[in-house]
Amino acid sequence: MLGVVRILSLLLVPLLLGSARGLRKVSSRTFKIDSSHNRFLKDGQPFRYISGSIHYFRVPRFYWKDRLLKMKMAGLNAIQTYVAWNFHELQPGQYEFTGDHDVEHFIQLAHDLGLLVILRPGPYICAEWDMGGLPAWLLEKKSIVLRSSDPDYLAAVDKWLGVLLPKMRPLLYQNGGPIITVQVENEYGSYYTCDYDYLRFLQERFHGHLGEDVLLFTTDGAHEKFLQCGALQGLYATVDFGAGVNITAAFLTQRQREPRGPLVNSEFYTGWLDHWGQPHSTVHVKAVASSLYDILARGASVNMYMFIGGTNFAYWNGANTPYQAQPTSYDYDAPLSEAGDLTDKYFALRDVIQQFEKVPEGPIPPSTPKFAYGKVALKKLKTVEEALSILCRSGPIQSLYPLTFIQVKQYFGFVLYRTTLPQDCSNPTPLSSPFNGIHDRAYVSVNGVPQGVLERNLVITLNITGKAGATLDLLVENMGRVNYGHSINDFKGLVSNLTLDSNILTDWKIFPLNMEDAVRSHLGTWDGHGSSYAHSPSNYTLPAFYVANFSIPTGIPDLPQDTFIQFPGWTKGQVWINGFNLGRYWPARGPQVTLFVPRHILVTSAPNTIIVLELERAPCGNGGPELCTVEFVDRPVISAAQTMVTSLKTKTKTHG
Ligand SMILES: *[C@@H]1O[C@H](CO)[C@@H](O)[C@H](O)[C@H]1NC(C)=O
Ligand SMILES: *[C@@H]1O[C@H](CO)[C@@H](O)[C@H](O)[C@H]1NC(C)=O
Ligand SMILES: *[C@@H]1O[C@H](CO)[C@@H](O)[C@H](O)[C@H]1NC(C)=O
Ligand SMILES: *[C@@H]1O[C@H](CO)[C@@H](O)[C@H](O)[C@H]1NC(C)=O
Ligand SMILES: *[C@@H]1O[C@H](CO)[C@@H](O)[C@H](O)[C@H]1NC(C)=O
Repeated sequence: MLGVVRILSLLLVPLLLGSARGLRKVSSRTFKIDSSHNRFLKDGQPFRYISGSIHYFRVPRFYWKDRLLKMKMAGLNAIQTYVAWNFHELQPGQYEFTGDHDVEHFIQLAHDLGLLVILRPGPYICAEWDMGGLPAWLLEKKSIVLRSSDPDYLAAVDKWLGVLLPKMRPLLYQNGGPIITVQVENEYGSYYTCDYDYLRFLQERFHGHLGEDVLLFTTDGAHEKFLQCGALQGLYATVDFGAGVNITAAFLTQRQREPRGPLVNSEFYTGWLDHWGQPHSTVHVKAVASSLYDILARGASVNMYMFIGGTNFAYWNGANTPYQAQPTSYDYDAPLSEAGDLTDKYFALRDVIQQFEKVPEGPIPPSTPKFAYGKVALKKLKTVEEALSILCRSGPIQSLYPLTFIQVKQYFGFVLYRTTLPQDCSNPTPLSSPFNGIHDRAYVSVNGVPQGVLERNLVITLNITGKAGATLDLLVENMGRVNYGHSINDFKGLVSNLTLDSNILTDWKIFPLNMEDAVRSHLGTWDGHGSSYAHSPSNYTLPAFYVANFSIPTGIPDLPQDTFIQFPGWTKGQVWINGFNLGRYWPARGPQVTLFVPRHILVTSAPNTIIVLELERAPCGNGGPELCTVEFVDRPVISAAQTMVTSLKTKTKTHG
């Protein structure tokens, strides 16, 4: 056999010399599994990877190189990234691959720094990312069975893979690029569908687009039950587990599925995720370092999840069930902080790696400097109601019963639902969502008087007052779609009827709100007169925009620098600087208190404009001070005391 192959390749060489691709093909770039020695072979040499996860969609492009270089200097020889489908196909058939979305450039940067890449293109990725990376518009078919052979799901996946994977093909190791392995789906064995035809479909498409020689793998929790539905013949099965577990037992699980081949932990957890209203998660440096040591001592390949977590900017965070949304910071207690800073964990893990592999010499890029720009006083600009014509230029959609976000083609952010009170409510009258259909939070007012907040799983009834014919407004916030488990078909808005005194409310005007465009236009022109402060019997203020300009001080070298913004006395909302959506703040619930502000969004040549949408209670007006203050500080606070929340005691019906 060998002889025949040799002669064939000798014959082929002259034919291929003409094209660059051909030249690369005949070079010895190969990445394979060596079953007889339980290892990888890179260019025919024994190889194991020590990798770290970084999600390009959680780190601004401005900082990609800095973070990758820090990973390289820790002694990693590879990085791992997911591809978030919904970050690229925002509307069906409309693709975004530029700027912060330029995944090819990100992979090329890693390559330029000498890092290999482990690619995890989903299509489902979990990742504590909105809907696990699946585009919300898939829910336009209400009954769609995601992550299965549902023909509508497969058609959308097929189309997407036909766009993404051809971009990845030239970046494969064997084609001269850095991508050594490609993961199919993600922890599929933890999902209920257990549809092997779906995995086979993906396998066939991945090979079709990437070639027969690409090394495909799967990742599942290190338990037999997960590997049952997650693994498939022809896809190399790997496992994931964190510090402190029995490593022998965890790898034995992989061995049951893959009797031969390299041991691989595809997600070795350096930290853990957070939820609003729960303590910030941490995992001790010593526990992570000692487990990493044990994994490497076995000769296993490992990917540390996360090596840098980054940020859920804008509306990109996901949620778990029973509904708990993840905060804006995805710091993850990783070796590099959310802002890319070097931590004790970074140096401890580097020390461990150094005991097994050569770590690059030379200076490690330092943590970026941070600057405390101090306090900025904001003026109230407009309430959401006053800004409606700017926020919803096409006007409302009329409907007898409420429509979901998907039905009005609004995928993120906010929708305002308006109707009139059909009866007199001079006495407090219960406004209720009997089927727990507020997804996820509604800020309620009657004739411009704030009444309170309804919240999925937590508050499904609120007493309101007002006269018959008064305007009832519910500003409904999508707080992030469920990214894991049975309930990823997570519809938003008012997903079931509301009742007033047990009568179903009808005749809605539904306003999909385009916050981003409105914010970029400063919500129309600032006329120097802020909105008046509505006097409310409760201590809620109407959802409203607050604005200020602030300048970067002159005479200090190297400004602007990164900073963190905090909201003393504010409650919950969204913040933009120069039109860049930094994400949600919610100090009243915690544990996150400050938001990361990367320096590339700040300007020195002109004032910077900050716009805050406070949804619940601003610290000014209502008899308090006229101005509301935010503060730029030089240290993050992501582990402050939090307001513990307890779910409704009654078992509530969940949607989908
Ligand atoms: C770890 O798991 C292995 C294999 O199941 C078992 O033999 C061993 O006793 C376990 N070690 C501990 C400390 O539990
Ligand atoms: C609403 O008001 C009624 C009557 O004042 C009271 O009995 C009830 O507890 C209130 N419900 C809520 C949810 O506040
Ligand atoms: C609201 O109630 C009406 C009448 O019972 C029903 O036809 C409709 O489907 C309900 N709508 C939602 C969103 O639950
Ligand atoms: C005002 O807000 C605080 C903080 O959430 C709350 O504890 C309090 O009950 C509210 N007071 C009134 C009168 O609604
Ligand atoms: C902020 O600055 C911009 C541009 O310099 C200006 O158009 C706007 O009116 C200013 N806004 C405030 C609130 O001062």
